[in-house]
Amino acid sequence: MPKLGRNDVCWCGSGVKYKNCHEAFDAKIELFSRQGAIVPTHDIIKTPEQIEKIKESAKVNIAVLDYVAEHIKEGITTEQIDCWVYEQTTKYGAIPAPLHYEGYPKSVCTSVNHEVCHGIPSPDVVLREGDIINVDCSTNLNGYFSDSSRMFCIGEVSEEKKRLVEVTKQSLEIGLEQVKPWGFLGDMGQAINDFAKKNGYSVVREIGGHGIGLEFHEEPWVSFVSRRGTEMIMAPGMVFTIEPMINMGRARIRTDKKNGWTVYTADEKPSAQWEIQVLITETGYEILSY
Ligand code: MF3
Ligand code: CO
Repeated sequence: MPKLGRNDVCWCGSGVKYKNCHEAFDAKIELFSRQGAIVPTHDIIKTPEQIEKIKESAKVNIAVLDYVAEHIKEGITTEQIDCWVYEQTTKYGAIPAPLHYEGYPKSVCTSVNHEVCHGIPSPDVVLREGDIINVDCSTNLNGYFSDSSRMFCIGEVSEEKKRLVEVTKQSLEIGLEQVKPWGFLGDMGQAINDFAKKNGYSVVREIGGHGIGLEFHEEPWVSFVSRRGTEMIMAPGMVFTIEPMINMGRARIRTDKKNGWTVYTADEKPSAQWEIQVLITETGYEILSY
């Protein structure tokens, strides 16, 4: 790419002169890159306008999950959750991002107990007292994407499952302490993995978070078993998800051979996941959806 003049209009679409916009940013990226770090390309750095649109999408995403939170209870089917998510999302003029995504048949993922992720809603799956369930909701509003998921405990849940759900949520907070501009994604990944291990749990290795915004899944891929000082640099304007899947037993997983989607723990012990979507800012981060 030809080097921009300092008085040229910045590449980011702000309309501002390069020297008053992303010149210092690019110098910093260049420095990290020369030191051997993985750095973001310009196309994953969001403009202020794009960030506003992603935030609008995220508002719908939160509202849909709030609706699920208010209505989920013992005795309903996961099919019912799928109906709610479709109805609520479209009510706001948005589209459930999972629907027909790479052939996925439903509007939301509902993963119960030892299902790790990508559980497919079904009229045959009835929520029973003692179940834990992840509802993973992804939203496309005017071509801008948001993605988050929450855990729900159905009725009285065993202490050990409750603890898994709580520790998984805490792991997000521990991870967030490492999220800052010009840090490494691996700082966050290691913090989450260390915390999970300290609590006797294991973290799923094969599936991670992702950049998001203009597409459902963008660069970078975000690991939660990575090492401090590795993986991509977090730069202002990046938007990605933090969504660790934490297993009560071993980390190993297997995918359903029949439906091609649902991921289970290999040892059939419970798994939990919370997902948030964050924006890296000049001074820290903003949580866009949760
Ligand atoms: N929502 C999942 C994520 O966090 C992706 C689900 S893809 C689907 O990345 F097709 F299964 F919906
Ligand atoms: Co996601």
